[in-house]
Amino acid sequence: MDRETAWGIVCEFVESDSLRKHMLSVEYAMRAYAEHYGEDPDSWGLVGLLHDFDWEIHPTLEQHPMDGAPILRERGLAEEDINTILSHGPLAADMRVTLRDKALYAVDELTGLITATALVRPSKDIRDVAIKSIRKKWKTPAFAAGVNREDVEQGCEVLGVDLWEFHVPLVLKAMQEHAAELELDGSLA
Ligand SMILES: [Fe+2]
Ligand SMILES: [Fe+2]
Repeated sequence: MDRETAWGIVCEFVESDSLRKHMLSVEYAMRAYAEHYGEDPDSWGLVGLLHDFDWEIHPTLEQHPMDGAPILRERGLAEEDINTILSHGPLAADMRVTLRDKALYAVDELTGLITATALVRPSKDIRDVAIKSIRKKWKTPAFAAGVNREDVEQGCEVLGVDLWEFHVPLVLKAMQEHAAELELDGSLA
């Protein structure tokens, strides 16, 4: 499946602008990880872009992402891509086998914390966000309380990367490079 088709699916199933931006953020982070590992950025980006496409029609963890799989299959998404998307579910730890599965799990929640950190800055510009501000927010459980810090830690552990030395800087940089597409370039200030 090409990116244009995947983006079409996102636009068809997701109305929420913030959810679309979340999936774009995960796409950019996945592309950066693919480059780091010498893997294919298009295939890593694709699963990131699609991973929550069914959240609005399947808004419970009994349904999401499992019930989205038949739809993606019908649209022609490859089985290995569907497997990676299925593996990001909270109950799917056993399915996180490939490097791509593990990276998706590790970046998913973190993008939410980074977005929230950027949006509380007066400039609303992600390029003004420093690692230490993210760290401060990370340690404040009430801030972006929906972001499960443990998932991110666990993701880093299975991926074998250091959370603060490597993971957060890589994901932040990937998102900063797409500040405009994420509307985190100060245009909301
Ligand atoms: Fe999800
Ligand atoms: Fe997600």
